Amino acid sequence: MGLLTTWKTKSKTKKAQRNSTSSGASDGDFAQHEIAVSADSLVKQDAASELAAIPKNNRIVSSEPVMTVSGVERTFSVGGQPLHVLKGITMQVLPSQLVMLRGRSGSGKTTLLNMLGGLDQPSKGEIWFDGKPFHKLGDNDRTKVRRMEIGFIFQAYALMPLLSAWENVELSLRMAGVPKREWKERVAHCLRLVGLEKRMHHRPFELSGGEQQRVAIAKAIAHRPKLLLADEPTAELDSQMAAQIMAVFQTIIATEQVTICMTTHDPTILEVADHVYEMVDGKFI
Ligand SMILES: Nc1ncnc2c1ncn2[C@@H]1O[C@H](COP(=O)(O)OP(=O)(O)OP(=O)(O)O)[C@@H](O)[C@H]1O
Ligand SMILES: [Mg+2]
Repeated sequence: MGLLTTWKTKSKTKKAQRNSTSSGASDGDFAQHEIAVSADSLVKQDAASELAAIPKNNRIVSSEPVMTVSGVERTFSVGGQPLHVLKGITMQVLPSQLVMLRGRSGSGKTTLLNMLGGLDQPSKGEIWFDGKPFHKLGDNDRTKVRRMEIGFIFQAYALMPLLSAWENVELSLRMAGVPKREWKERVAHCLRLVGLEKRMHHRPFELSGGEQQRVAIAKAIAHRPKLLLADEPTAELDSQMAAQIMAVFQTIIATEQVTICMTTHDPTILEVADHVYEMVDGKFI
């Protein structure tokens, strides 16, 4: 289309490097789904200059997996009958990777993501997050880990409607117990990172869907989590906005040393993943 920018070029490199488990990830779908990101190039250029302008955070990145999942099963009881939703999931998420879980509705993506974030526990199997056994920890311990080290992004943004973009991001720092003296600089940094410096004082209803999702990203990374989990973060957005969100994800992986695991239905964004797990009926194929 001649309009593709850095995003596409980068994604080609990524694709070559990627070790994908997805049978659908490398088929002809992508050629047809190339996203025209003409307006988006502005964001790419912004993101590139941001990369140069923003000091890297000082976290030392280890090569140990951030998350190791082995033999995970999840069975719910529905009307007295067992419902096997996850049927033996094994996966690894390495530092600074962008990992995607792709699958049809009902295949178990959200169930798995909830478990990766310690919101739920497996019926069987193990989940290790940064050396901590989520499958063994109680609710309180998992909540503590989650508050400090994990950020969540949901399909429907989950912003506080009466708070401005600035106040929404600040809230996440307050929740994580970050000292107040650090808030101002960190909030400004995160909103700048997602390209919202001109919308800092808007409330959610004064922002577009893509802008609201960018506030949600700023909010999710403000407390410097090691892992960012995103459930269908682009589902409510058109393809240009979705491409912008993926560009923001790439920027924050590079500058914040965060690792991202997200679910998606959208074949057009799989190209930027380091690894794609294809899920069918509670299993990876
Ligand atoms: N708490 C629960 N109790 C009983 N069944 C559940 C529960 N949570 C999820 N399920 C079932 O597990 C299956 C997988 O649900 P899940 O939400 O993980 O799918 P998904 O892949 O995220 O789908 P979508 O793409 O529509 O979001 C569904 O059939 C759902 O009904
Ligand atoms: Mg889901």
